[in-house]
Amino acid sequence: MFNFKVDKRSPIPYYFQIEEWIRALIERGKLKPGDAIPTEAELVEQLGVSRLTVRQALNNLTHEGLLIRKRAKGTFVAPPRSQVPFVRDRLTSLTEEVERDGFSLKSKVLRQDLIPASGEIKQQLAITGAQQVILIHRVRSVNEIPIALETTCHPYRRFAELLDMDLNDSSIYQILDRQYHARPDEAVDCFFASVATQEEADLLELDPGDPVMRYTRTAYDHEGEPVEFTKSTYRADRFEFVIRYKKPFSGQTSTNLTVNPLENRPK
Ligand code: GLP
Repeated sequence: MFNFKVDKRSPIPYYFQIEEWIRALIERGKLKPGDAIPTEAELVEQLGVSRLTVRQALNNLTHEGLLIRKRAKGTFVAPPRSQVPFVRDRLTSLTEEVERDGFSLKSKVLRQDLIPASGEIKQQLAITGAQQVILIHRVRSVNEIPIALETTCHPYRRFAELLDMDLNDSSIYQILDRQYHARPDEAVDCFFASVATQEEADLLELDPGDPVMRYTRTAYDHEGEPVEFTKSTYRADRFEFVIRYKKPFSGQTSTNLTVNPLENRPK
């Protein structure tokens, strides 16, 4: 890469010096989003430090979101994180969030099935008696980087056709709006920090135990009918959730952030 030597007489830990060096290259624009970082082996050779030291520096920068790992391809300078604002003028879909940032969202359907509504789904979708729901499991990517997994349930009675539609690269909110006039316009979102399971790590190209943000949404149509219950897993290194506090004025819905006691936390 660029000329740099670890100062072995300095009390500053080697991994931190490497971190600061790469960070400075990114900040000064010498390394740009998408540029490849040399491999661990190359850095070990260039800097004369252990593999563990190099790995710690790269891991820290990856967790901070400055670098991104792509399986079997290497480590690259990350594009800026997507921002998910907490206060919006209207309820948005992931397609809209990503497009607002000038990117395009790809979605791959991993599962599209009819399942009996279980306790939690029944409760969230206000389903009584034995009813089925359509379960849609998708991996959502930007620039070929998987950013989120989403498992969505919709009441089958109302949205039966969704079961057989090709939902790859589609916006479900757009379909709910155009086909059913049931665009969600009210919702309860709940966020909490977690770590990726093995299965999630495989799909999101992370290591098991890497940080993720879990995000559930129960959304309602304009008549207050629940139309969706979704559990999402967002890569923590690709998103930041932004809260904007607005001056309340009459006629405007306000957003409250509630700290849920742990026992209320969705599983
Ligand atoms: C966001 C929400 C999900 C919702 C999805 C719809 O990700 N958190 O609850 O199901 O948007 O996205 P789209 O319309 O792009 O399919």
